[in-house]
Amino acid sequence: MKIAVFVGSIREGRTGITIGQWAIEQLEARNDGHTYQLVDILEQNLRPNTALPPRMVENGNYAEPTTRAWAELIDGFDAYIFVTPEYNASMPGPMKDAYDLLYAEWTGKPVGFIGYGSDAARTAISHWNDVVTRVGMTLIPAQAEFTFQDHFPDFVFTPGEQGATWINAIADELIDAADRAAVEVEA
Ligand SMILES: Cc1cc2nc3c(=O)[nH]c(=O)nc-3n(C[C@H](O)[C@H](O)[C@H](O)COP(=O)(O)O)c2cc1C
Repeated sequence: MKIAVFVGSIREGRTGITIGQWAIEQLEARNDGHTYQLVDILEQNLRPNTALPPRMVENGNYAEPTTRAWAELIDGFDAYIFVTPEYNASMPGPMKDAYDLLYAEWTGKPVGFIGYGSDAARTAISHWNDVVTRVGMTLIPAQAEFTFQDHFPDFVFTPGEQGATWINAIADELIDAADRAAVEVEA
């Protein structure tokens, strides 16, 4: 099984990349036979431009070459962990743009969230819940909630044992959900 850690922030000095890299280290240390990969929007050179609503596009046949490459990358995963901050009470625009470029590649697959912020990006995650549900993804209950107060003493990301517990719960639930999704597809 292949699981993406999708980092949603592109700001200079972003905290999101530190959290994404930490998540990958934790996940790889599980040594569980699954593959974990960081997905960074900054490496994708995306243009938020859709000639057709992505829902109408079949077989990754998007007009933009950069979107076709994005679709191929995202389609290759069985499940996703979204690492989301909260900007003005919602998800970051570039993350939503990158998400909205595709449709079928996300549909039917499980997703879990790592949120961080003054209240662990709760409002952003609640907006994400509406978005991913609309696109037909399966939301797992496990979630990592890093607050500035508890997990960033002196502005340094400090996930602690709680962080390890959260990331393992997310991985376990994603793997179970992706297994169930695969069985449903075969049936
Ligand atoms: C445009 C903008 C809006 C923000 N709005 C919120 C917010 O609504 N709630 C919150 O908890 N933090 C907010 N913050 C603070 C972010 O949580 C903090 O900057 C965090 O590090 C952002 O993640 P990043 O560094 O990965 O981009 C905002 C930051 C920016 C840049």
